[in-house]
Amino acid sequence: MAVEKTLILLKPDCVQRRLMGEVISRFEQKGLNLIALKMLKVTPALAKEHYAEHVQKPFYPALEKFITASPIVAIVVEGLEAIRVIREMLGATSGLKAAPGTIRGDYSSSRQMNLVHASDGPEAAAREVALYFKPDELHSYSPTLTPWFKADDE
Ligand code: CMP
Repeated sequence: MAVEKTLILLKPDCVQRRLMGEVISRFEQKGLNLIALKMLKVTPALAKEHYAEHVQKPFYPALEKFITASPIVAIVVEGLEAIRVIREMLGATSGLKAAPGTIRGDYSSSRQMNLVHASDGPEAAAREVALYFKPDELHSYSPTLTPWFKADDE
């Protein structure tokens, strides 16, 4: 099992709806480590870089307007298989389709305003972490409670 880093964005709807603490709590309670965190306003240029694969899609103009409308929080989360684990914690892209118990399933009723972004694979994670953070802004650590979250050989 690999320890992975993944990029999380708490999107403008998450910040405005005061759901930041709720989402961060879920990651912490799962035993994942937050190793970098900042609030920022996404510029149109950063939006185009981050969502490069969606720039040509019909929904992109609305997506850029939404993601640049209000501050977001960028977070690097580290943990065992963190990329897959967090995607599963978020649920399907649309809050209307996401299963109950997932973050989007519990709090979102929208395809666009789906509260949280998470990298969808190792290459995206490396690229997206580097878009928002310099290497010296990442602070890996081993919490003293680690022995109560997993066995030594996991
Ligand atoms: P995210 O996981 O951040 O990746 C791309 C984002 O585009 C997605 O979450 C949604 O916010 C948005 N998105 C994806 N598909 C659609 C769509 N069909 N219509 C509008 N927004 C979309």
